[in-house]
Amino acid sequence: MRVVVFISGRGSNLQALLEQQNNYTISHVISNCSQAAGLQIAQDYGVATTVISWRDPKQAETKALALLNDINPDLIVLAGFMRVLSADFVSNFPFKIINIHPSLLPLYPGLNTHQRALNNQQSIHGATVHFVDQYLDQGRSISQCQIKITAEDTAETLAHRLLSKEHQLLTTTVNKIASGEIYWQDNQLYYNNQVITQPIVWSKI
Ligand code: GRF
Repeated sequence: MRVVVFISGRGSNLQALLEQQNNYTISHVISNCSQAAGLQIAQDYGVATTVISWRDPKQAETKALALLNDINPDLIVLAGFMRVLSADFVSNFPFKIINIHPSLLPLYPGLNTHQRALNNQQSIHGATVHFVDQYLDQGRSISQCQIKITAEDTAETLAHRLLSKEHQLLTTTVNKIASGEIYWQDNQLYYNNQVITQPIVWSKI
C-alpha cells in the first residue's frame, strides 16, 4: 500500500510511520511549511518531499492534487498537518484520507485540546484517528487511544504523555488499513470483517 503523509512541523508521527512500514510504504511527504523539521526526517529515510505554500489554499490544493494524481496513493495520512482541506479536494479521495487528532473526538475538535480537557476536569484524555471530510475533525472516527489525567497534569505533561500513544495508535491503524483488517465499505466501517459503530480502542482505560 502506497501512503502519502502531509505534515506542517515536528514530524514525530511521520517518524513513527516511517519506522513501522510493515504493510505499507511511504512514497512521498508533503509539507505546507518549508521549515518543517519532519522534512529532514523524510529525507533521512530517502523519501521524496514536496513543499507547497498554502498561502493561497485553492492554488495549493491544485498543486497537491496534480502531485497526488501522479503518485496515485492508496492512503493519505495527515500527521500534524495544520490546514483544513476543502470539500472539493477531499471529494477526490473519499475515505482515503485520515488524520490524527489529539483528543477523544467528538470532544475537542480544533486547537488546545489538552488544556480544554483539563479545564473541563476530564479524567480521561486521548487521541483519535479519523477519516477526513470537509469539516474540521468531524469525519468518522476509526480508532482511539486513552490516557488517565492526574491532578498534577498540565497541558504540557498531557501532550507529552499522549504523544507516544499517538504514535502507536497511528502506526497500528495504518498497518491495519494496509493489511485489510480495517476498511470502509457500503457506508460502514469494518474491523476484522465485523461492522463497527464505535472507534476501536486497543487498550481501554
Ligand atoms: C500531534 O499531536 C497530532 O495529534 C496533531 O499534531 C501533532 C503533530 O505532531 N494533529 P508531530 O508533528 O507528528 O510531531
